[in-house]
Amino acid sequence: MQVVVKSTADAAAEYVHALLEKQLTTFPDSVLGLPTGGTPVSVYARLIKGLQPSWKRATTFNLDEYIGLGPEHPASYATYMRKHLFDHVDCPAEQRHIPNGLAADIEAEADRYENAIRRSGGIDFLLLGLGTNAHIGFNEPGSDFRSRTRRVQLTPSTLDANARYFRPGERLPSQAITMGIGTMLEARKIVVMATGQSKADAVGRMFQDPPTIDVPGSALQLARDVLVVLDAASASHL
Ligand code: F6R
Repeated sequence: MQVVVKSTADAAAEYVHALLEKQLTTFPDSVLGLPTGGTPVSVYARLIKGLQPSWKRATTFNLDEYIGLGPEHPASYATYMRKHLFDHVDCPAEQRHIPNGLAADIEAEADRYENAIRRSGGIDFLLLGLGTNAHIGFNEPGSDFRSRTRRVQLTPSTLDANARYFRPGERLPSQAITMGIGTMLEARKIVVMATGQSKADAVGRMFQDPPTIDVPGSALQLARDVLVVLDAASASHL
């Protein structure tokens, strides 16, 4: 894994933005894997400003979605993606993919998603955030490194971290559909972005040798091309 440490979160976002912009301009047909969460907000904000690269020929696959939330729910990842990216770029709706958290048969939906990734030719550029418990996507500690897209149970620490996106008192979904770690490891390029002191421990453990299923991010040591982009605070345990 290669590591780039920038002094601030803003500088880290600028760096990741430049990588994504270059990917889209050099390879307009790219298949991208995209995260939600707080970390990439400032990357997406940069991508939709000014002279944007065209997303007309790009295909996107989000990492995950809550089970039980429809695309119009304010805390769904479908809403997040429209708000922060898709409402502002020219990527055709049929080329954007997010798991359907309302599917009647979640296992069939996960298989459909996995097959759609395969049919697209696989992910060229996968952008990931990192949970404070080192999860990637919603692959919580204990996830098999060969796992594919599937239903997962969210841990209390993830529910705590994500409660800020829900109304006070609103019940959070306890399950999600997530792209698997095995699916992620097949991406041709992976960029992991983490910022802030709260991620320092997870970042340190990601580099733990040998990789362990207790630290999902450590699976990335097994991928062929991984770049970890940090700010000084998140790199403080390296
Ligand atoms: C988001 C996702 C998660 C987040 C992680 C970090 O689609 O799959 O793995 O990347 O929880 O979230 P933030 O950026 O909010 O700290």
